[in-house]
Amino acid sequence: MNVQFNFQGRHVVVFGGTTGINLGIAQAYAAAGAKVSVASRKQANVDAAGSTLGAHGFGVVADVRDDDSVTAALAACVARHGPIDVLVSGAAGNFLADVNSMSSNAFKVVVDIDLVGSFHVARRAFERLRKPGASLIFITAPQSSVPMPYQAHVCAAKAGVDQLARVLAIEWGAAGVRVNAISPGPIEGTEGMKRLAPQGDEGDKLVRDMVPLGRMGTPGDIAQLAMFLGSDAASYISGTVIACDGGAQSQLTPMITAAAHAGMMTR
Ligand code: HXC
Ligand code: NAP
Repeated sequence: MNVQFNFQGRHVVVFGGTTGINLGIAQAYAAAGAKVSVASRKQANVDAAGSTLGAHGFGVVADVRDDDSVTAALAACVARHGPIDVLVSGAAGNFLADVNSMSSNAFKVVVDIDLVGSFHVARRAFERLRKPGASLIFITAPQSSVPMPYQAHVCAAKAGVDQLARVLAIEWGAAGVRVNAISPGPIEGTEGMKRLAPQGDEGDKLVRDMVPLGRMGTPGDIAQLAMFLGSDAASYISGTVIACDGGAQSQLTPMITAAAHAGMMTR
């Protein structure tokens, strides 16, 4: 059952918000009355997402690896909808590769998108937030604290995202800006699961079996938490990394390692 939120008149910007989990967050805020801006690299994704966000939806092309591109996208969002109340930073790029067959650029590209991109988004948005009361939400992953084979780049990048959230909560607290991170568990039907999870029927079963609540999550599960963190109900919550994973985190390393050894992780 979904809790109802009201974001009438608020401006929510979602980087990486044109597909998957982040689009689910953007759509939920739009359904709750917010003016929503989304940004990502591909024009086709931006157009498709924009058309699902209703009259107050706005889409802009941006690559989070490029500081100038992020700055320009934020300027366009603010020109359209005014200062930002809730900023979500969720752009990510990932693939499976063991360290010995990973080039320097392969490691770097994931760190550049997931971590450096998050820095650009946060750094360039600060002056455009409607503070105090503004909320910045990073989308991290269990890999930030749970080591997983073939994902050294993801683990390193997302660990950095968690620390960025904690440091910004301190630095921006005096301005009244709250900063948190959401760590989704396995979310069904997403690009992340397609790329990083154990594959096949056996792989699916392994994933479901490791979730104490007995099911994979949905983008709607994550959107509910994102709306809570963006709302006044969370006005004393800052500097936290919150898992939304049906209780799965502590069981991830053994499960993923077993799947890797059984050849269920396709590199
Ligand atoms: C080894 C690989 C590789 C692979 C790319 N590379 N794929 N190396 N195995 N499977 C290497 C390339 O050879 C190259 O190194 C370097 O990485 C950069 O690759 P490009 O293709 O030039 O990069 P680019 O076009 O910028 O694309 C970025 C990308 C791509 C990350 C590689 O996959 C992408 O755009 N992904 C976005 C969508 C996405 O990944 N969504 C999932 C998010 S899920 P060399 O040395 O050859 O130059 C997520 C999950 C969290 O975050 C947890 C879920 C359970
Ligand atoms: P997704 O659909 O691939 O979402 C990633 C988004 O980021 C896409 O909209 C993509 O659009 C955008 N993007 C990628 N590179 C970008 C760049 N350089 N600049 C700007 N935008 C960029 O994947 P998802 O599975 O829903 O994951 C969404 C978030 O949840 C990610 O942060 C991921 O790490 C996290 N997460 C996912 C899971 C899961 O189960 N799926 C679990 C834990 C955490 P373009 O291609 O148009 O750029």
